[in-house]
Amino acid sequence: MSTASSAPQTLTLRRPDDWHVHLRDGAMLQACAVHTARQFARAVIMPNLVPPVTRIAEAAAYRDRIRKAVPAGLDFEPLMTCYLTDGADPAELANGKQQGVWVAAKLYPAHATTNSAHGVTSMDKIARGLEAMEKAGMPLLVHGEVTDPEVDIFDREAVFLDKVLAPLLRRHPGLKVVLEHITTKEGVAFVEANGPRMGGTITPHHLNFNRNAIFKGGIRPHFYCLPIAKAEEHRLALRRAATSGSPQFFLGTDTAPHTVDTKECACGCAGIFNAPVAMQLYAQVFAEEGRLDALEAFASLNGPRFYGLPPNEARITLRAAPFEAPERVDVPGSDKSVLVFRPDTPLGWTF
Ligand code: NCD
Ligand code: ZN
Repeated sequence: MSTASSAPQTLTLRRPDDWHVHLRDGAMLQACAVHTARQFARAVIMPNLVPPVTRIAEAAAYRDRIRKAVPAGLDFEPLMTCYLTDGADPAELANGKQQGVWVAAKLYPAHATTNSAHGVTSMDKIARGLEAMEKAGMPLLVHGEVTDPEVDIFDREAVFLDKVLAPLLRRHPGLKVVLEHITTKEGVAFVEANGPRMGGTITPHHLNFNRNAIFKGGIRPHFYCLPIAKAEEHRLALRRAATSGSPQFFLGTDTAPHTVDTKECACGCAGIFNAPVAMQLYAQVFAEEGRLDALEAFASLNGPRFYGLPPNEARITLRAAPFEAPERVDVPGSDKSVLVFRPDTPLGWTF
């Protein structure tokens, strides 16, 4: 770290990884993969394609398509996940882990979010699969929201922790679990209370804005994602957790591209495409908190440690300088594009 004035102006760290990414498939994959690969050495690839990725062979083929979509010269490794459905096959989970295809499996409660129609309807239905994962040391990645329409959308994460996740942890005491894209102070406390078997990923956008941003001057669909951003006290709890240096919290962007027409309509999709600005945004948050010294742990060390992988040897250097991201990314072979997440305050870090 070099110091020009009192604050550091550059920061060199091990190349970071992204532990939660939606890369999609086909033309969208062609458009988006490069942006994640420029930022990160490895990424945990979400399996919510249509149809979802549930078999080892499907994941291996998808991994090949991702590798082909990344331009030559970029060093990038996709880490694949299995989409859990009711009755998930324990052998398919254990074998895929053993063959080095799966790094984890993803639990979407049925209908919780984009492409989750095939998700799990009750934890009983995946108990045998979870037992196999427990034995294989394969982490469970959780979209932590109840789907009961009676529960207020801003309470769905906190209710899930009490009603679903706490009993699941008791039932599977050896299972490693990641609470993905934490959005509440209850989520932070839950991860902390459950010790080293548990991790939590935090997105750059949930660190950047609170729920007011979705409605500032009108309804702004590009600030809408799931779990939905919560009130300011929750954003502050996330910032404290991410910058705390605790090994339980690590980087997961949840970059989730949707074309502009599917965001700007009467019933717009949930998801924020932040890949082109991810590290710039995280660096900004850590700088604002005066905790740039904790960025490498969050971005490059804690995730590999949780997954039992070595940290990357390559380094990146971030600089304090204005960064102008492209406004949009075009989807090849169509007239469609994806808007890049644009925070309300300018980005002051680049690399
Ligand atoms: C994700 C997507 O679009 O696939 N959307 C989102 O708002 N985060 C799904 C998800 O992770 O919930
Ligand atoms: Zn996601």
